[in-house]
Amino acid sequence: MPKLTTHTFRKLKGQRPIVAVTSYDALTARYAAEAGVDIILVGDSVGDTMLGFDTTIPVTLDMMCHHGAAVVRARTGTLVAVDLPFAEAHHGHDRLLDSCRRIMQETGADAVKIEGGAELAPAIARITAAGIPVWGHIGLRPQQVLVLGRYKKFGATPGEIETLIADARALEQAGVFSIVLELTDHEAARKITAAVSVPLIGIGAGPHCDGQILVAPDLLGLTTGGIPSFVQQFADAAAEYRKGFAGYVAAVREKKFPR
Ligand code: KIV
Repeated sequence: MPKLTTHTFRKLKGQRPIVAVTSYDALTARYAAEAGVDIILVGDSVGDTMLGFDTTIPVTLDMMCHHGAAVVRARTGTLVAVDLPFAEAHHGHDRLLDSCRRIMQETGADAVKIEGGAELAPAIARITAAGIPVWGHIGLRPQQVLVLGRYKKFGATPGEIETLIADARALEQAGVFSIVLELTDHEAARKITAAVSVPLIGIGAGPHCDGQILVAPDLLGLTTGGIPSFVQQFADAAAEYRKGFAGYVAAVREKKFPR
């Protein structure tokens, strides 16, 4: 399969369901790519899934560049996007442009993902005008958790649906190639998906989006904390890890390894 670009990715809307997944290291990226995912997101969820933080808020630009570069080094031929971390999008244009530049140049990624709605559209339009492909992210934005008080579902009221449609349209106008829609009422997701020409990739947003994204440790059954109720575990990788480590510890203690 030829490598997708952000342009050809965009054209997948209405053609077939799009599959996205997170990855934070070269090893996992290779397995995800082998399975045929359309795009890998180096999400700031690296913070709460892999680095031991409670939220994505402590994740820094340096961390994202570090993990983004590792995924790109896997040279999988799969499209790679890297998250812009907490608060970076809310600096003035010069710093925002420089943060996106760092992600693109230091990691070699194909795109930057930015959490934000209509209020960020003018800033995002300047980033896309600078030649940087942007993946939008609306609905629940985990970087807002301290203001929201909890990870809450969006799109439950007509007013919220209107706001989400306005957000999606503003981002489309700003030139994003796709939008992640997180934790949103399923019927609302259907309406938002129909309102724009770019692919809407849902997570906890039901079956009516153009595609789905899941956090890799959640779908693999590796996450040690709780996982969101919408996640389906497609493997029990934790059981394999436990078996492997326990076998190693026992073999050394019992002098069965090395032989
Ligand atoms: O950081 C992340 O993993 C994300 C996904 C939840 C879409 O933004």
